[in-house]
Amino acid sequence: MEKNIESHLKETRVFKPARAFAKNARVGSLEDYRRMYRESIRQPEKFWAREARELRWQKPWKKVLEWKAPFAKWFVGGKLNVAENCLDRHLQGPRRNKAAIIWEGEPGDKRILTYQQLHREVCRFANVLKRNKIRKGDRVIIYLPAIPEAAIAMLACARIGAVHSVVFGGFSADSIRDRIADCGATAVITADGGFRRGAVVPLKHNVDEALQGGTTIRRVIVFRRAGNEIHIEEGRDVWWHRELEYVDAHCPAVPLDSEHPLYILYTSGSTGKPKGILHTTGGYLVGIYSSTKYVFDLREDDIYWCTADIGWVTGHSYVVYGPLAAGATTVMYEGAPNWPEPDRFWRIIEEYAVSILYTAPTAIRAFIRWGDQWLKKHDLSSLRLLGTVGEPINPEAWMWYHEKIGGGRCPIVDTWWQTETGAIMITPLPGAIPTKPGSATLPFFGVDPVIVDQRGREVGPNVGGKLIVRRPWPAMLRNIYGDKGRYQKQYWSEFKGNYLTGDGARRDRDGYFWIVGRIDDVLNVAGHRLGTSEIESALVSHPKVAEAAAVGRPDELKGQGVVVFVTLKSGVNPTPSLKKELRGHVGTHIGAIAKPDEVRFAEALPKTRSGKIMRRLLKEIAAGRTVTGDTTTLEDFSVLAKLGSAEE
Ligand code: WTA
Repeated sequence: MEKNIESHLKETRVFKPARAFAKNARVGSLEDYRRMYRESIRQPEKFWAREARELRWQKPWKKVLEWKAPFAKWFVGGKLNVAENCLDRHLQGPRRNKAAIIWEGEPGDKRILTYQQLHREVCRFANVLKRNKIRKGDRVIIYLPAIPEAAIAMLACARIGAVHSVVFGGFSADSIRDRIADCGATAVITADGGFRRGAVVPLKHNVDEALQGGTTIRRVIVFRRAGNEIHIEEGRDVWWHRELEYVDAHCPAVPLDSEHPLYILYTSGSTGKPKGILHTTGGYLVGIYSSTKYVFDLREDDIYWCTADIGWVTGHSYVVYGPLAAGATTVMYEGAPNWPEPDRFWRIIEEYAVSILYTAPTAIRAFIRWGDQWLKKHDLSSLRLLGTVGEPINPEAWMWYHEKIGGGRCPIVDTWWQTETGAIMITPLPGAIPTKPGSATLPFFGVDPVIVDQRGREVGPNVGGKLIVRRPWPAMLRNIYGDKGRYQKQYWSEFKGNYLTGDGARRDRDGYFWIVGRIDDVLNVAGHRLGTSEIESALVSHPKVAEAAAVGRPDELKGQGVVVFVTLKSGVNPTPSLKKELRGHVGTHIGAIAKPDEVRFAEALPKTRSGKIMRRLLKEIAAGRTVTGDTTTLEDFSVLAKLGSAEE
């Protein structure tokens, strides 16, 4: 039988919520959190009904939950509309003229849409959809840059009950074609082009290529963004701005069944063929509304900025739907963080007095590498809360974020969740839960995660195992689009009736969760199973290291040897003596067992387009094989070429 994952990294720093922060917080003490959590687990129906009642229902639900594992229905019999909850609901009171979206384009253009203006644009565009014969239940591909029209298109679909599937603007024609085929979409909403690092991304051109040879698509609606020349296919393609001339701004929100599909979002993880994750209406809305409110401790005057692209689940739940459902001001930025210079984010924070910043460890590590001089030029004192998502955050990157960006005063919410979970699952509540650098801390309300061994038995403190979730939660995925069998097999069969996350984790003596990496990436060295994140965090704690990835390579004696790929901070020389030093550093921080057999310096690591390190590719390179399998989610192919030739 396989052994449990071992844990060797010791992190003892604890940061209690500041008294001033806790005093004004929605949940202001650990006792309050525990009391609410207990209720959410013992009486989930009562807890979630209370949250749901804060939203607008066109018809009340009959039953909060119907669970026939692994199929859940939430707020059974209820009818509501997500767009109505994100827009109309706010128009009666003082939010009417509050900024809903503050947007900045990469070239520096700016737009602010109030709730009333956004409502109007969504209604008009929903009428455009209807005019183009897009109906309730139809699937619509959205392939747009991060411009307000992306949110407008999503909300317009939601308003009429069309099901959107956003495809990240960096994906190619092949990815678009695959997704259209998988969900049988009939329309595409795109733009002529978008801006990325000063260049124009030819979005419409990619769509044309994707549609070659015939697909289910009947209509393409094109927004003019970049002004680049494009082809218009008569009878198929129409301009967004022209279509608007034919419609008015009156468009009632269609009452939709609580389980009506809201969107499909394709996720590859870092392995295999993309899966169309299906999210529905009522439960999803309640889940993201409630988590946005509590996790970001939202106040009426917050300026909230989640830097994720609309093409990822974080963009869906915490750029668009969550903040708008909660009536917040959400900031959107179109471009790269280092355009025109590496201080773009800090400029935006200063300019709009951003108070909440939610970003990813990959971005934080890039900022560290670019150097602190870029933030010194800017006033970041408007910030009161920081968040991170997407990967385990290395404790040293957490400390940097805390000190340099948060000025030592902002709590950090390290939020663990997945495309599949729809909403944040494990997270600190900033006024209640003391944080530890590198830990996502404790479960959110209604979430019942547990760490188990191969046989499904719960493991003790600090023993690594598989992270599973024992009961359904409102924002959970409902299916893999069109493939119930795969849904059941992938997520619910290994430990029957429990949701398998695919992540490895341990829980410490305080019950805090520490994610140690994807189960598929776990190393097996001389009978010891080691998660990747601890070795990587040890390396990142070395002052010269910016980023690291640990993988296993076949080893006759030990089963697997440890190979680490390391990028250095700017200005540091990659010398053989530094390699030795880094091996020793891991040895002292974790133990001899984790000491890398080989250290390889790299200019960059291969990542998915949402910034996750693709260890699967590194594993093949470390083993001296050529890279095979799916690389369509790889961000920058030149990285791979450079790594392949990185032999000494
Ligand atoms: C990883 C992103 C550690 C994890 C919302 C998960 C994290 C996968 C964290 C989902 C975190 C996300 N700490 N690991 N705070 N957040 N992950 O579907 O491996 O793009 O399973 O959803 O990212 O990635 P996805």
